[in-house]
Amino acid sequence: MDRICISPYSDIAHRAEVIALWKTVFGYKEAHNQPELVIDQKVAFDDELFFVATVGEAVIGTVMAGYDGHRGWIYSVAVSPEYRRRDVGSQLVRFAEGALARKGCMKVNLQILEGNESVIAFYASLGFSVEKRISMGKRIKENIPAT
Ligand SMILES: CC(C)(COP(=O)(O)OP(=O)(O)OC[C@H]1O[C@@H](n2cnc3c(N)ncnc32)[C@H](O)[C@@H]1OP(=O)(O)O)[C@@H](O)C(=O)NCCC(=O)NCCS
Repeated sequence: MDRICISPYSDIAHRAEVIALWKTVFGYKEAHNQPELVIDQKVAFDDELFFVATVGEAVIGTVMAGYDGHRGWIYSVAVSPEYRRRDVGSQLVRFAEGALARKGCMKVNLQILEGNESVIAFYASLGFSVEKRISMGKRIKENIPAT
């Protein structure tokens, strides 16, 4: 059985593999969601809430969290297809939750894109429940690089 380790993201050690994983798993097209930009901004923010799951040197999963003093958020939960249903995703989310809890966070939120409802069961297995909310967002165009 492979030994799975969860540790803070390191730009030197993990960058290329995280980018490759996110391109495979998420494949976002929008400029503000490009992995290189997302990573650069998170690293610059330096809140120590970005984690990877590794087997040996290989990155097999990610989770990114954020805490703004009011709510914690969980983003970018991804596990390589060949490692799914082996508890990696659960370990990543629990790890991020632990880090948020240590910062004083009282409630963690996350969003699931329309069409990806099958992951509700995954988050429900970790104690999350679907809440009646309408999610809205707005892009701040001057901060998004032109493609
Ligand atoms: C969602 C994801 C992170 C789950 O990772 P994982 O390592 O396979 O999850 P776990 O092995 O920890 O699953 C724990 C439990 O969650 C549930 N679960 C996980 N994936 C599920 C799925 N696709 N459908 C239904 N239940 C699921 C099961 O109850 C599972 O327990 P079991 O394997 O004993 O039945 C992974 O499938 C993934 O990377 N998906 C693509 C990216 C994505 O959609 N991320 C979420 C964005 S909001």
